[in-house]
Amino acid sequence: LVFATKTQPLSTMATDEERVGNVKRQLAKLFESSLRAIVPDESDVEPLIAPCTGKFGDYQCNNAMGLWSKIKGKGTEFRGPPSVGQAIMKNLPPSEIVESCSVAGPGFVNVVLSKSWIAKTIQNMLRDGIETWAPQLEVKRAVVDFSSPNIAKEMHVGHLRSTIIGDALARMLEFSNVDVLRRNHVGDWGTQFGMLIEFLFENYPNLEDVSETAIGDLQAFYKASKQRFDDDAAFKLRAQQAVVKLQGGESEYRKAWSKICEISRKEFDKVYQRLGVKLEEKGESFYNPYIPGVIKELSELGLVEESEGARVIFIEGANIPLIVVKSDGGFNYASTDLTALWYRLNEEKAEWIVYVTDVGQQQHFDMFFKAAKRAGWLPADDSKYPKASHVGFGLVLGEDGKRFRTRSSEVVRLVDLLDEAKSRSKTALIERGKAKEWTEQELEQTAEAVGYGAVKYADLKNNRLTNYTFDFDQMLSDKGNTAVYLLYAHARICSIIRKSGKDIDELKKAGVIVLDHAGERELGLHLLQFSEVVEEAGTNLLPNVLCEYLYNLSEIFTKKFYSNCQVVGSAEETSRLLLCEATAIVMRKCFYLLGIEPVYKI
Ligand code: ARG
Repeated sequence: LVFATKTQPLSTMATDEERVGNVKRQLAKLFESSLRAIVPDESDVEPLIAPCTGKFGDYQCNNAMGLWSKIKGKGTEFRGPPSVGQAIMKNLPPSEIVESCSVAGPGFVNVVLSKSWIAKTIQNMLRDGIETWAPQLEVKRAVVDFSSPNIAKEMHVGHLRSTIIGDALARMLEFSNVDVLRRNHVGDWGTQFGMLIEFLFENYPNLEDVSETAIGDLQAFYKASKQRFDDDAAFKLRAQQAVVKLQGGESEYRKAWSKICEISRKEFDKVYQRLGVKLEEKGESFYNPYIPGVIKELSELGLVEESEGARVIFIEGANIPLIVVKSDGGFNYASTDLTALWYRLNEEKAEWIVYVTDVGQQQHFDMFFKAAKRAGWLPADDSKYPKASHVGFGLVLGEDGKRFRTRSSEVVRLVDLLDEAKSRSKTALIERGKAKEWTEQELEQTAEAVGYGAVKYADLKNNRLTNYTFDFDQMLSDKGNTAVYLLYAHARICSIIRKSGKDIDELKKAGVIVLDHAGERELGLHLLQFSEVVEEAGTNLLPNVLCEYLYNLSEIFTKKFYSNCQVVGSAEETSRLLLCEATAIVMRKCFYLLGIEPVYKI
């Protein structure tokens, strides 16, 4: 057996260990030094650390088997995976993180974390703030392209999903110290505008008369103009000519276009306002002036070919090419997206570009990402930056299992949906007698937080690729894995702290956490995993991972800790109040990252 000398200067790691909450990463550092010591020649072997599956520890190192198959033919002194595991364990540098280690089965090294280290790390977080547990991602700037409805067309539940998921991802990346450009890539350019403008001219010869109230419902306006377009050949012709005039920059046409965009924008903003979502609009039209240059660049690279009158890029493995200039010479969705990608990489210097749309658009994204790789804009290796990722999501279904529609089979208006969620949660609060206890303002605020939170959480908790059924009764239930249950759980923790009569800020400064009871320890460990979960959810673009963590936190708090450990009036009161406070802080940060407003009393 080879025992290398331990040269790691451990004292320099101490501050890191105290400040950074990512346990997995810290263990990885320790195991890395052990791996380097036992197999100095295998410098590319990365430590594989995961939470324990069995009950023999908190985390495990899974390197032994893989390492064994790498070195077995090479005259090694090891006799098999278990002896590799033993050596990994014996060479671990001493650390205050680790209480004990053991080797199980084919060389898994189980680690039991030190209780006092867990306690101390939580105390430090209470003192220095949850920001000290923020993940550090290697990406400096990212674009999150989300929501992105189409002007004058309906903003449907698909766009609601994009808005909710995109906002959560943006929040997680922002928390991880990434500079996020939140982009609303609205569909504000395209052939539908010819028809809309012509229809506008027909009905309002004087543009000044056009106001929000005049057009009123833009969806209805769109429908009516589409009807006219389909029914009347002369109108159709005028509409087609209008597109050309608009794109040629004729001022009356530009004015009509911006009028329509403005009215749409106001409608969209109502939804964003209710949801508390911030977005910066850079619509399709923004990229229009850059398209010819980008197509030229791609042509010079030899990527653009002629096919059936159109100009296309052939993609390996795809049976249809990506059309970048239509046969009539016009640009399309793909030309705009290629150009927007070029702009984001070169002008905005983003290293990661994330697109949130329904999975139905996956092929489009696959194809233009591949085109960008052929052009050398993106590396062929998907694990390298700059990187483009498509975040696809499934459908929202109605209770009949079909695509979510209203009774009159219209597309559901988002504003109505949110209003209904709010009014239902208000009714539930009134039934609980809150109208007598609270001011009208408190009632309103709570109804909003719970109602909108319920809609968001019901969407985020599932793996985004699965379809889910939109069901008010289910999402507004105070039992099960719902926002209502979680928000109430948080409020109850706050009330435990309030009722203790103790000044929690004073306790935070000097109080000591002890994790002697199994329930306390389990809660402490779960709190500590917050950072690595946010990192996982952010890097894999999966908000449901954070939802699951939040739900488990609430379950562990209630079932493992609170039902077994008396808080107020016990000998451990200070320590336990601090655990309550840490749980409330972590829950609030989870709510924040999911775009949900917390509730403090119930
Ligand atoms: N406007 C599109 C739609 O409603 C979504 C745009 C997504 N973003 C993009 N860069 N293609 O389907």
